[in-house]
Amino acid sequence: MNGLLRSKEEALLGMLPDFFDNYLLELPITNRDRLLQKAEASLFKKGNLSTYVTLLNELPELDGVEISENGRINLELSAKVIDDENLKKIKNSVLRLIPWRKGPFKFFGCEVDTEWNSAVKWHRLASRIEDLRERLVLDVGSGNGYFAFRMMLEGARAVLCLEPSLQSFVQFRFCKHFLLDKPVEMLPLRSEHVRFEKRMFDTVFSMGVLYHNREPKNHLEDLRRYLRLGGQLVLDTLIDSADRPSILVPSGRYASMRNVWSVPSKQMVLDWLSESGFNDPHCIDISTTTVAEQRSTEMMPYHSLTDGLDQMDTSVTIEGYERPVRGIFLANAS
Ligand SMILES: C[S@@+](CC[C@H](N)C(=O)[O-])C[C@H]1O[C@@H](n2cnc3c(N)ncnc32)[C@H](O)[C@@H]1O
Repeated sequence: MNGLLRSKEEALLGMLPDFFDNYLLELPITNRDRLLQKAEASLFKKGNLSTYVTLLNELPELDGVEISENGRINLELSAKVIDDENLKKIKNSVLRLIPWRKGPFKFFGCEVDTEWNSAVKWHRLASRIEDLRERLVLDVGSGNGYFAFRMMLEGARAVLCLEPSLQSFVQFRFCKHFLLDKPVEMLPLRSEHVRFEKRMFDTVFSMGVLYHNREPKNHLEDLRRYLRLGGQLVLDTLIDSADRPSILVPSGRYASMRNVWSVPSKQMVLDWLSESGFNDPHCIDISTTTVAEQRSTEMMPYHSLTDGLDQMDTSVTIEGYERPVRGIFLANAS
């Protein structure tokens, strides 16, 4: 790319051209440029950008940072040497990036206990999906990249994230500041605004996104088009417990969550997957979300799961729907 990167703000996307050159070379150059231009346009529409750029620019440079899995839960960044002043700067930045929803992380000893213990979801699926080694992966609605780094640690050749939330994008850039050489990148875009002219991803994840989409079948059709023939979809979504194909359409919020447009039953998801051109759709896990997985913490001190449940009967939400249950589905692209 692309004479477009001019200022410090624009440097937020500065690593993407290299990532495209290294891992998405199959894409026509016009397609790559269009994606980068869209990413830039989308980022510059957002408020608060300069505050975040200042924060990222003030982060210390550290040598030899590594990322590892710690006790199957935390993602831990560590450096051979870090002095107290740099550690203080990092801790301050972590606090300025609250709320932290997906994690947990440990940054150079600084624990970030996130709203979600995302490791719980990861371990539900990690041993059931196709081996990620050497695969090119797309994570749609990635949040701050917690899962993408886990995919990389499993040996994925590269992981591209799509994530429109600026907060999540900046938390990702915070991590990536210390991990410049790692093959994980993020486009700050919604999936419906992204077109890849080549079907090239070996695995596509869409976790926690389907019910936020007003046109869920269109979302699934997009996901199929991202996958190479035979590539694997990993889909995680809220589901309704009806034992027939049906859709719950909340009349307002759902467990206090905004933008939950529809909650399909398991059979509905399986039907949608077949109709959207996926082979062998199947459900590998159904779990009720509990406070062991989602709760308020110091790093996310706002409303969480319990605030969305009826205090007298926690089997239902405050709006009277059944409490959140999630299903994980696998399928292969035809
Ligand atoms: C409930 S969170 C799930 C995050 C993570 N995938 C997980 O499973 O924990 C949904 C994320 O998807 C993002 N999102 C919502 N609609 C999207 C879309 N159309 N394309 C890409 N991302 C989207 C949101 O910004 C949010 O970060």
